[in-house]
Parts: sequence; C-alpha cells; structure tokens
Amino acid sequence: MSKTKTILSGIQPSGKLHIGNYFGAIRQHISMQNQGDAFYFIANYHSLTSLNDGKELMQNTIDVTLDYLALGLDPEKSTFFAQSDVPQVPELAWMLGTVCPVSLMEKAVAYKEKTAAGLNANIGLFTYPILQAADILIYHSDIVPVGKDQKQNIEIARDLAGKFNHVYEGEFLKIPEDLIMESVAIVPGTDGRKMSKSYDNTIRFFDEGKELKNKVMSIQTDSLALEDPKDPAGDNVFALIKLFATPEKQKEIAAKYKAGGYGYGHAKLELLDLLNEYFGEARERRKELAKDLDYVKDVLTEGGKKARARAESVMEPIREVTGIIRNF
Ligand code: ADP
Ligand code: TRP
Repeated sequence: MSKTKTILSGIQPSGKLHIGNYFGAIRQHISMQNQGDAFYFIANYHSLTSLNDGKELMQNTIDVTLDYLALGLDPEKSTFFAQSDVPQVPELAWMLGTVCPVSLMEKAVAYKEKTAAGLNANIGLFTYPILQAADILIYHSDIVPVGKDQKQNIEIARDLAGKFNHVYEGEFLKIPEDLIMESVAIVPGTDGRKMSKSYDNTIRFFDEGKELKNKVMSIQTDSLALEDPKDPAGDNVFALIKLFATPEKQKEIAAKYKAGGYGYGHAKLELLDLLNEYFGEARERRKELAKDLDYVKDVLTEGGKKARARAESVMEPIREVTGIIRNF
C-alpha cells in the first residue's frame, strides 16, 4: 500500500469497548497507521441514533480515546478525532441525501436488523448510511477498513459518490474501496453468542482484578465433569484462549482438554492469566493517560483541526458547484 493512501475508519462510542472490538477492528486500525495516511474517528453523531444520555456519550468518547491511545494509537502517525469536530460532515451528508433515492435506504439491512432488535425506528437510524458516506467521502478516503457487517454501508458510500459526481458532472468525490478485515473469527461472548455490547456478554480489555475474574468464570461451557475428556473445538473458553496463546501453548492446552482430568475451571484460569499478560502493559498505560485528560483532549483537538482542514478542501468545490455560497 502506498504511503499516500488515505485510510479511514470510525467507531461508535455507544458502549465500553471489548475484546471482540479489539480483535475485529482496533488491532487492525492500529497496525494500519504505518501503512498510509490514517484517519480514525469517534462516530458520536451516529451514536445518537441509539444513545440519548449526554453524560454517557461524553464519557464513552473519552474512554474510547484512552483505549486507542493505550493500545498503541500514535497521534503523530494517525489523525484521531471526534466526528462532531468536523461540521463539513453533516453538511456533505445533507447534500448526499438530496441525490440519494429513498429506495437505496429501504434496501439497507442494518436499519431492519437494528429495529428488529428493538432499537428506536428514528430517521437518524434510517439515514445512518448517508452520514457514514459523508464521513468517508469528505476526506477523499481511499481505503476503509471495517468488519464484514459494514460492507453494505461502504457500497452505499461508493454509490452516493458516483451519483453525486454524475449529477454535478465532475470528480468531486473519490470512490473509496472497502477493506474487509477478516478478524481471527467472530469473538464469542461469555454466553457463547457473538460478543457484543448489546448482549451484555462482553469482556473488556481493561477489566481487571475481581471484575475480570468474575466475567471469565461466568463463561458458559457444557457440563462435562472434571475427569471427562473434552473437545476444545466446540468450547467458548478455548476459542478465547486461541486469541491470546502462542501455537505451542494452544497445543498444550488442547492436549489437556482431550486427556481429561482438566476442568473448565482450569482452562478459565489459564485464560485469565493470558488476558492479564496480553493487556497488562496497555492497562498500566491507560491508567497513566487517564491522569492527564488534558493530553487526551489535546489529541482530539489537534486531530479535529487536521481533519477539518482536509474536509474543507474537499467541501469548497462542492459548495461552489451546488451553488451553496457562504459569503456573499
Ligand atoms: P458491538 O457489537 O459491541 O456493538 P460494533 O458493532 O460497534 O460492536 O463493532 C465495532 C467493530 O468491532 C466492528 O468493526 C465489528 O466488526 C467489530 N466487532 C464487534 N464485535 C465483534 C466480535 N464479537 N468479534 C469480532 N469483531 C467484532
Ligand atoms: N457504522 C460503523 C460501525 O458501527 C461506524 C462508522 C461510522 C464508520 N462512520 C464510519 C466506519 C465510516 C467506517 C467509516 O462500526
């Protein structure tokens, strides 16, 4: 990948981040900061479609920033910012909405899935993909690394860029490519379903002590007795162990499962050690960073400035061609 490619991705601050998010998204975001001009943002406007508690949203925004910084995001290498610090995003979203057929939104599956799952059927949720398209297109992004579930939203962004360029007869918006991050696998939660903040089955990477231990101990398994041989392939605890253990360690633990005389309680304690080892350093870094919230705010402020400058350069010709003039 050439150094000049713009990489962009966003994450909603609608809850506390967990190890599913880490293996499915954050780890890749952080490693990609060395592969191009990376822009990562906190999609706080998007979160308003499902979270209506200002204090909580603000706290989540700070938490997500702390998490990324502690896990290795380098603000010298990537631009990290809040979506709401770039007013050109909702401005472009409006314009994209005017070239977007209603039928395109009606075909979007995320809205149907979210409302079926009980989320409030508001217009923000319905037009969520248009705002996401503006997020992507406003920086002339080349590559958008996302999980599989976001593929349709990226298609919509490509479609809207094409429609806009066609209507206004010019290359005003760049057509982005998606980069579907094949996460190691869907990380299972403590109840065996996909780990998700909506299911209350998450293990957070910065949980520690008793809280972490309780969560690990609550992972659901079958009810085979201690002495029974067990199949690691179908077990949630082993699926999580695989994320952290070296191949040798995985083999060693799998052999213990198969031999019998090794209970799920033992496996959970191994997982707990692995988790502590894997996230230990980042956890300490996070505690240090949390003592200096001014630094965290500076990162967002500086990131916002850089993102706005890029967004303004893309927006200016668009205002001109659409006839939306700001200063008469
Ligand atoms: P949640 O399901 O907790 O609400 P999001 O939908 O906000 O998580 O996902 C944010 C990112 O993390 C997405 O890129 C998604 O693909 C990834 N992700 C979320 N949960 C998992 C999981 N259990 N396994 C792998 N990746 C995940
Ligand atoms: N919809 C994405 C999610 O739920 C978050 C998001 C908002 C995003 N805007 C984006 C991701 C732009 C990539 C690019 O995970």
